[in-house]
Amino acid sequence: MTTSRWPSIVPGLDEIAFGGDYSPEQWSAEVCEEDIRLMHEAGVNLVQIGIFLWAAIEPAPGEFDFDPLDRMLDRLHRADIRVSVATPTAAPPAWFFRRHPEALPVKRDGRVLGIGARESYCPSSPAYRAACERFVTALAKHYQDHPVIVMWHLNNEYGVQVGPCYCEQSAVSFREWLRERYTTLDGLNAAWGTTFWGQHYYDWDEIQPPRLAPMPVNPSQRNDYFRFTTDEYARCCRLEADIVRSVTPGIPVMTNFADPVETGYLDYWRFAEEVDVVGIDTYLMGNDPRPHIGLAFAGDVSRGVARGRPWLVNEHSTSAVTWQTHNVAKRPGEMRRNTLAHIAHGADGALFFQWRASRFGSEKFHSAMLPQAGTSSQVWRDVVALGADVRALTEVRGSLVQAQAAVLWHWPSWWAMQSGYQPTADHHYEERHRAYYEALWNLHLTTDYLAPTDDLSRYPLVVVPSLYLTSQEAAANLRRYAEGGGTVVVSYFSGIVDENDHIHDGPYPGALRELLGVVTEEFHPLRPGDTVEVAGLGARTDVWSERVVPAGAETIETFGSGPDAGHPAITRNTVGSGSAWYVAAKLDAAALTRVLRRVTAEAGIVPAVPVGADVEAVRRSGPDTDYLFLINHDAERSTTVTATGRDLLTGVEHDSGQVPLEPSGVVVLAQRRA
Ligand code: GLA
Repeated sequence: MTTSRWPSIVPGLDEIAFGGDYSPEQWSAEVCEEDIRLMHEAGVNLVQIGIFLWAAIEPAPGEFDFDPLDRMLDRLHRADIRVSVATPTAAPPAWFFRRHPEALPVKRDGRVLGIGARESYCPSSPAYRAACERFVTALAKHYQDHPVIVMWHLNNEYGVQVGPCYCEQSAVSFREWLRERYTTLDGLNAAWGTTFWGQHYYDWDEIQPPRLAPMPVNPSQRNDYFRFTTDEYARCCRLEADIVRSVTPGIPVMTNFADPVETGYLDYWRFAEEVDVVGIDTYLMGNDPRPHIGLAFAGDVSRGVARGRPWLVNEHSTSAVTWQTHNVAKRPGEMRRNTLAHIAHGADGALFFQWRASRFGSEKFHSAMLPQAGTSSQVWRDVVALGADVRALTEVRGSLVQAQAAVLWHWPSWWAMQSGYQPTADHHYEERHRAYYEALWNLHLTTDYLAPTDDLSRYPLVVVPSLYLTSQEAAANLRRYAEGGGTVVVSYFSGIVDENDHIHDGPYPGALRELLGVVTEEFHPLRPGDTVEVAGLGARTDVWSERVVPAGAETIETFGSGPDAGHPAITRNTVGSGSAWYVAAKLDAAALTRVLRRVTAEAGIVPAVPVGADVEAVRRSGPDTDYLFLINHDAERSTTVTATGRDLLTGVEHDSGQVPLEPSGVVVLAQRRA
């Protein structure tokens, strides 16, 4: 990723970005005039236009009509509202598919997905890529000198709805990809372990995508297909990025990733290399009992995708969405807390889907900055107030979040655990991550997300939930880190297989056995509904138990019941001047909080500032000033935090040392460093 090219994520904007997706094509000229007036009232400084405009701009192949978009951009320019122009390549026109039905995506079971929605394209389709190239070239050239454009928004959520395509063209492209990766068929046969179930390949053309088969398909092949899929969507992105960069080298390129915590199809560590700005679409999940933790989790992983640099909330919602089973409206104050929490977690822009609620189409019940109820609504009043809050935080832009812990996040492990025939169907990568995140959140620690081979040396604590697929390089990285004095906490089902999904030599936990100083003799997954006790923690856990035999590590807790009663459930190994903990039980967030409290106490790890139970404290640091975000997620009780500084949201100087926080209150303290 080339984010370092830019001092700010959107150099053409001198504030934190505030605005949303804007679809003037759905409205009359009068409504659009009103939009401009209301955008000013709300403090909107950036809108994203054109995301689904392909059919409108190119009515027939090679015929372009930019007039309506020209008028809109000119109007926004006169109004001093900046624009991120989208390449609408997530929604090719119907005429394209009439000519190229082969470009429609195919599911694993052979079902061809139809048109009439969006994102119905195969990323490997030469016709699709050629059409994108033609359109994006025309778009970039047409707008190359337009002063209103400050960013390119490429496509929309690459691969999120469709994921891998299994069509014939994808098969051809997969074979090419495999030739590059393995050079020889012997290499491929070895990597895929094709001696199992008689799958040996004698010719590249025999290889197929991992289509629906009578039983789980080769897991090594399947993981390669996900790697290939990331590369194919990334190629589509690069094709567009190369065009707009060559025409407008001064304008940053962004694509909007879906919430990385919810979306497992693509490896965003790899994909983010293609763009200058990491945009993330992140929504509250209505069924989450502690949704603000889910949101903080998504924010921290998003910042990880941006490699620690500021990122853009490309979409979030003022209230309910439409795509959940129960689309819960936000409670009073929740939108404000959500937006300010995103900024706390490193966002330098807060955009919404969308500016004005649509009157038609599948998303007509989706909330918006300007809801169906119009300006006489609480949502609108809150949006206007939020615009002022965001503007008050302008100086926070560019500052970097200070984390006390790192967590390793790994899409290939996630994919591999979904390949079928696992020890239990009830173990879920994202569930383990969320439990560990929640425990860290409960301890008020700010967490950076890293790839397994990233430099870990600046973190006092590294947490490794279910790193099922652990390369020797990743294992060595963790070992080096612990030997150098670091503290590592590893959950069960880590270190098991290598990059090819082959079990590491010797007993589990394979690549991490030496680091952890334990040997696992056997996994003892539990029947649905069965639980076991983890004696000293006063916790009962479900899903998992395993027979751990210490091989150098000391036993901290034992299983109190079940197949491994009396045997270790938590161990601690001394490694060089550091330590490596192993948690062999599926502890819930409350029990993990107790474990991590002990680990962090031992390692002397403390939060940004001591705060009460439901308060979030995150520090961002600029060149000479720290910004301490304090967010009270308790809607009923006020609290105080021991800190000083000037609250950017109110201008109040808190010099008494005690900062009051109202129920649902947010304070952002600017603290000059000496
Ligand atoms: C996604 C899309 C948007 C819209 C929203 C609705 O993030 O990018 O176009 O569909 O979801 O929440």
